[in-house]
Amino acid sequence: MRRVRFYEYGGPEVLRVEEAEAPEPGPGELLVRTEAIGVSLPSVRKVRGEGGMALPGLLGGDVAGEVVALGPEVTGFEVGDRVTGLSFTGSYAELATVPAFLADRVPAGVGAAQAVALVRGGQVALAALATARPGPDESVLITGAASGVGHLAVQLAKLQGVGRVVAAVGSPEKADFLRALGADEVVTYDSESWGEPVDVVLEGVGGELLPRAVAALAPGGRLVFFGSGGGTVPAFDLLAGAKTITGLTMARYSTTQRELYDRHGEQLWELAASGRLRPAVHAEIPLAEAARAHAIIEARTNLGKVVLRP
Ligand SMILES: NC(=O)c1ccc[n+]([C@@H]2O[C@H](COP(=O)([O-])OP(=O)(O)OC[C@H]3O[C@@H](n4cnc5c(N)ncnc54)[C@H](OP(=O)(O)O)[C@@H]3O)[C@@H](O)[C@H]2O)c1
Repeated sequence: MRRVRFYEYGGPEVLRVEEAEAPEPGPGELLVRTEAIGVSLPSVRKVRGEGGMALPGLLGGDVAGEVVALGPEVTGFEVGDRVTGLSFTGSYAELATVPAFLADRVPAGVGAAQAVALVRGGQVALAALATARPGPDESVLITGAASGVGHLAVQLAKLQGVGRVVAAVGSPEKADFLRALGADEVVTYDSESWGEPVDVVLEGVGGELLPRAVAALAPGGRLVFFGSGGGTVPAFDLLAGAKTITGLTMARYSTTQRELYDRHGEQLWELAASGRLRPAVHAEIPLAEAARAHAIIEARTNLGKVVLRP
């Protein structure tokens, strides 16, 4: 099978397409012939060397495709099922192993790219909203609002009846896309003011943006942090404004909040099937051109999810 690895840190150009043995599904794992593979900011950061991943690097992430083999102790799935889920051991490949406990069956009629754009991003967005619980009289600001996670968070916040949804992005060209998804306001990071203080921030970027996001909170405001970019929090500002920050990782959420996670999964498929939630696929790019997909994220131009096609 073909897969993508990198032997040194760097930009998209370090990604190498190579032949490899098919992976063996271990206990509780499905072997999936991939039809769509999600590309995301954390992967781009890993290739850059942030986080110090061991070399040669093999990227994990979300995939969708057909189950072609079952590892020992798998229940609830059969060969031939179409699924989407997370591969930790190499998702940029024609075959990937996926833990069954993190796999969803893809309903008939839903394309693989749509499934990849919906589930992972939607789960993060719903988990962030469930953590902050913004009410109908409250406002939410979402950073990285046009990203795979962000563009679903904007829509889901509106669907949940949040009073005012502010989309924060790197460039003004993303405004029309976000307004079409229901954003009440669009602000760019470099604008002097991000508008009226908000009750909730969903922060998926990190780095220098994190302190600005804390500053955007009204007194008593809540920030949910799930960005891969790290950052420093001004502790005195938390005290002075009685503000709260909660960290969120899906690894923990999907295990400790299992019931909610499963309910969110069902909700996402229902909302997408009824057309009320529209996952956007920005680009579908052949696996062999993974570098081109990473270049889109590096250029920060994506409107929705970037997907690789084996
Ligand atoms: N905690 C968890 O378990 C978990 C799980 C999944 C994803 N996440 C997080 O959710 C966030 C969004 O991920 P995603 O996969 O949805 O993103 P994505 O679709 O890959 O979109 C990337 C977008 O991030 C923004 N961005 C901000 N700083 C950037 C930088 N330095 N380099 C490149 N892009 C940058 C850009 O838009 P703008 O320039 O408009 O900001 C870019 O278009 C990430 O931080 C990721 O770590 C967390």
